[in-house]
Amino acid sequence: MDSNNVTGDSGGVLQAHSVHAGTISFGGAARGPGFGSAEAPWARLAGQVHGRDGIVADLVAEVRSAQPSVIVLHAGGGYGKTTVALSVCRAVRDAFSVRWVDASTSSSLLEGLREVALAAGAEPRRVREAWDGRASAPAVLWAALSTASPSWLLVLDNTDDLSVLTGPDGLIDGRGWLRTPPPGCTLLITTRDGRPEPWPESAARHRLHQLPEPDGAAMLKGLCPTAGDDLAAGSLSRCLGNLPLALWLAGRYLRNARTIPLVPGLDVPRTFGEYEAAWRDRSVELTDQVDRSAGPRAQLSSAWEISLELLADQGHEYARPILRLLSFFSPAPIPHDVLDAQVLAAEPVFHGLTARTMATTLARLRGAGLLGSVGGGKLPTCVALHPVIRDVTRAQPDVASHHSGYGLSVARLLTRHAEHLVHAELTDNEAYASLFLLHARQSLLEQVDHSPASCAVTAALLDAIACIVENGEQGSGNAEVLRKGARRIRTLVAGSGGK
Ligand SMILES: Nc1ncnc2c1ncn2[C@@H]1O[C@H](COP(=O)(O)OP(=O)(O)OP(=O)(O)O)[C@@H](O)[C@H]1O
Ligand SMILES: [Mg+2]
Repeated sequence: MDSNNVTGDSGGVLQAHSVHAGTISFGGAARGPGFGSAEAPWARLAGQVHGRDGIVADLVAEVRSAQPSVIVLHAGGGYGKTTVALSVCRAVRDAFSVRWVDASTSSSLLEGLREVALAAGAEPRRVREAWDGRASAPAVLWAALSTASPSWLLVLDNTDDLSVLTGPDGLIDGRGWLRTPPPGCTLLITTRDGRPEPWPESAARHRLHQLPEPDGAAMLKGLCPTAGDDLAAGSLSRCLGNLPLALWLAGRYLRNARTIPLVPGLDVPRTFGEYEAAWRDRSVELTDQVDRSAGPRAQLSSAWEISLELLADQGHEYARPILRLLSFFSPAPIPHDVLDAQVLAAEPVFHGLTARTMATTLARLRGAGLLGSVGGGKLPTCVALHPVIRDVTRAQPDVASHHSGYGLSVARLLTRHAEHLVHAELTDNEAYASLFLLHARQSLLEQVDHSPASCAVTAALLDAIACIVENGEQGSGNAEVLRKGARRIRTLVAGSGGK
């Protein structure tokens, strides 16, 4: 067999161009050629970047001033962090030596940082020793980085799992991978982890938000100029929560759809309006056929599942079912005090859930950019779910099969809360009461649509809500819609023999 066996200290810096045949093995373990790179993935910036001039200018100014020198850019999956980081690199690449490492897995991080060390002038023999485990690799890397010239910008992209970077003394300035850069140099970290705690106070944290609607519309028009006018593009952008990943997938879908021959009977959306209508019906299928080759981060159905997996790996076992549960509330903000762990713990999927785990799980979901938080003034503190994350979560296969289960859990939570509300006379707070009624109305109507047989819960919910409506002087349209829902349920229940 044609095989190369390379052992000892020669392995770590072999690159693809120096390997022509056979299996390279280090210390007995088989390895292929190295593909580590410290080059920025410029090809991903091929199209126009919309609506990010402000944040890019701010970050460029911070890089140029080098004060502070650790920048953390965070947001949930698909908000465009990688795109913004690349735009910053493009803007400064004439004056700075730009290095880029994919930190999404520990192997891509290790390979990338090895290339950074070499590019920064570390001695190849020292790098080999360190990456073979015979010396401290972070020490070799930072010795080279602290004397490298010209000033550098090092991007650690997709650093969602901070544990891959953490050393024995914590995340930064210990014996791990991250140190404070020398003056004039910058570390730019993109991550889905929005918690402030892991970072030193001197780090500049920036949260990336969804695009302004006109920029979302411009992005759609740029991807598929013939699919409709500005108004239709704006409406679709709004429907997709102005989320760049969803917009990008929609634009690509429409561009591809226009190349499909229009044979009779084919029902493929070709315009912004048709896409919006189809999205409201089916959500996730509309995007996932387009770009499987681009990997899971580029698919809506898995973009957030990756974050949920990471949270589960970190011991937050309820993160997935709680997000799924939240997606069964109405799209309005969900008051914290509706989320009673005791009520949920009766369900097998939430077995063992306590108030403490509910609170920490919500905090971690927020940290991962999967939930937002609103409240203040007359509004109670609430969690808010991005509309696209909500739609896509509800369309996950396991959710579809457990549909009535989550719906019932929401109904039970609302019932319990309604009882509290009646007793506490919280209904004086109109903002609170109408928020609650909104959720209750949706839950009722969904129960009717999906499980008319579960009349015990819906009837209890109805009773509780009727009390609120009577006690709380909610003379608005809400009350009438509720009563209509109630009549529909009673008719259904009567029709099914009261089962
Ligand atoms: N401002 C923008 N203008 C045009 N396209 C954009 C913009 N922001 C993001 N995109 C496109 O949306 C998609 C998702 O963006 P990107 O990969 O930058 O998101 P991300 O926040 O890094 O996601 P992840 O958390 O999965 O790493 C990409 O295809 C990107 O090209
Ligand atoms: Mg990214």
